[in-house]
Amino acid sequence: MTDSPQTPPQFPPSEGNRRLAERLFVEQLDQCSRFPKYFEIETVNACNARCTMCTIEDWNKGESSVMKMELIEKLADEIRPHAGWVEQVCLNRDGEPTLDKQLAQRVRLLKGAGVRKVTFATNGQLMTESFVSELCDAGTDDIMVSIDGATKATFEKIRVRLDFDLVVANTIKLIELRDRLRPQMTVRVRAVAMPENEHEVRDIIQFWKSRLQDGDSIYAMRMHSWGNQHFQESSEKVARFADKPCISPFSTMIIDVDGNVPLCGCDYNIKLPMGDFASESIEEIWRGPPFLRVRDQHANGRRNEIEMCRGCDIWDRSLVGAKRDNDRPGLADSPDGKPLLQIQTDLDLDLS
Ligand SMILES: C[S@@+](CC[C@H](N)C(=O)[O-])C[C@H]1O[C@@H](n2cnc3c(N)ncnc32)[C@H](O)[C@@H]1O
Ligand code: SF4
Ligand code: SF4
Repeated sequence: MTDSPQTPPQFPPSEGNRRLAERLFVEQLDQCSRFPKYFEIETVNACNARCTMCTIEDWNKGESSVMKMELIEKLADEIRPHAGWVEQVCLNRDGEPTLDKQLAQRVRLLKGAGVRKVTFATNGQLMTESFVSELCDAGTDDIMVSIDGATKATFEKIRVRLDFDLVVANTIKLIELRDRLRPQMTVRVRAVAMPENEHEVRDIIQFWKSRLQDGDSIYAMRMHSWGNQHFQESSEKVARFADKPCISPFSTMIIDVDGNVPLCGCDYNIKLPMGDFASESIEEIWRGPPFLRVRDQHANGRRNEIEMCRGCDIWDRSLVGAKRDNDRPGLADSPDGKPLLQIQTDLDLDLS
């Protein structure tokens, strides 16, 4: 492989690389060296909750808690010439984005730069009517609300410090406001399935299914390991994924509150730094030696050289074993081409 930014590596035409190129809508995987398609931006690195499956107690974060607006302006300026290529900017990483009262302003800047889809995930506790109205006005395309229980007891056991009734009421209000103020905005309810709530996942899906609209989604996916940092992946999974490249290093750039770029969304304490967006450009980082090295390892069947990547299936859970709602077929089946409500889970559930 070469480290030169002008000559990105040629990846072998393996089945795994071909399938990954397909997922990224490119003919050759090498084309991904052009620019990231997805961004996850840590606008806030603090949280008003302490969820049990989250890494928050293990965070080793720097000084800043909210990203300076100059960094978002820099991001918007650098994305603008590539807006047709970029699929999505997600305005959260590890923290709770609604703690940032300038969130709508950040959305507006990115929409002004031509970003097709600006989204974020929230715990829903602070989503007041006026905050949602501002976000609708700024052009937010999608909001994900994390809801890991169908009952107060289960939800509050997992989503520690949050109030189930408030989060449910806020989410119902969000859907109503969306319908009125910005019908094109989508709402996604996300549940992380774990031993504490598996018995309620079906109820979570049924409850939100009757309240969400066409184009919205419900996800109920199993807890992941944060790249072997929350728990160790099994040797069976380490072997199964050994020669399968992960989509993240070919598609996604994460930027933390101070501009540091880690390997991926799992790398919450930046064990594997890829660059510094405060002093480098997106293109310099994306085509720099650390990213080239990781892509080379993944595209050439050597991902197990990276401890975090061993058996990590965070981006493959929706492909392996996931099923869609039986009575509401997939997007392609919509008679008038309009997206239907999507339900996705990797649990073996009867959703009828
Ligand atoms: C880290 S949070 C940040 C955004 C916001 N605070 C929230 O809770 O939605 C992003 C998403 O990661 C999910 N999450 C946290 N720990 C997880 C784990 N071990 N496995 C899968 N998802 C997890 C959360 O439920 C949430 O949907
Ligand atoms: S609300 Fe989000 S960031 Fe906060 S502890 Fe829970 S999962 Fe982690
Ligand atoms: S395999 Fe997991 S840890 Fe490795 S780059 Fe992908 S998401 Fe990150």
